[in-house]
Amino acid sequence: MSRPLMIVGNWKMHKTIEEAMDFMKNFSKAIPFGKGDVYLAPPFTAISSVVEKAKEHGIHIGAQSVSNHVEGPYTGEISARMVQELGATFSLVGHSERRSHHFETNEIVSEKIKRCLDHGLKPILCIGETGIERSTNKTHHVLEKQVGEAVHGLRDEQVASIAIAYEPVWAIGTGHTATAEMAQQAHKLCRDFIKKIYNGAIADRIPILYGGSVNVKTIEELIKQPDIDGALVGGASLEVDSFVKIITISRECKS
Ligand code: PGA
Repeated sequence: MSRPLMIVGNWKMHKTIEEAMDFMKNFSKAIPFGKGDVYLAPPFTAISSVVEKAKEHGIHIGAQSVSNHVEGPYTGEISARMVQELGATFSLVGHSERRSHHFETNEIVSEKIKRCLDHGLKPILCIGETGIERSTNKTHHVLEKQVGEAVHGLRDEQVASIAIAYEPVWAIGTGHTATAEMAQQAHKLCRDFIKKIYNGAIADRIPILYGGSVNVKTIEELIKQPDIDGALVGGASLEVDSFVKIITISRECKS
């Protein structure tokens, strides 16, 4: 089963509108687009400015998070409907920085996925174990719980439309990428779990991306793994050069 390649840049709290526009200008010159495999999540403030240029080049623009609420008295929150209105087509959900700094539980993550689906945004569900969980053999349990609780109550066609990003917490922003073997094992575990709670056809359709210190040196081994369908890239997506190299290597390996 061939799944679509997805390379997603997560800019976190980096780049003003001016810096984002500058990136887009150089990025769109540097690489052949129109393949639909490039996704960028700038800060909310830059979404509407980059969306036009991104569309011309077939780049998907999305949010790094959305509120779990529909609307109401939630000061500082931004809804799925609001980002969809700006032209966003996807959102990250449950990134480990949201889980740890903003106390997002699996239940909140599940509500966010529903808000995304209600407003036509593709949710990219982020999951991953901490270093302690890995060293105490809890990875398996943690990943199944994160996936199971996040997709709870979703209909078949809804779950088939999500993507999952496996991002071991100990690998994010640390320079310690998981080995390709470790990542493949975790991806296979997630796919088998979806197969168990839904079915094989759905599990085969869901792209599972690896994230956590992906760079131009580590991408090749990772992307060659049968259950790794793309990458969620933080630091290395901030520079045109490194992001373009990651996309090019991934396309070559998956073609
Ligand atoms: P990193 O971030 O590539 O800088 O480790 C990845 C992420 O947090 O999505």
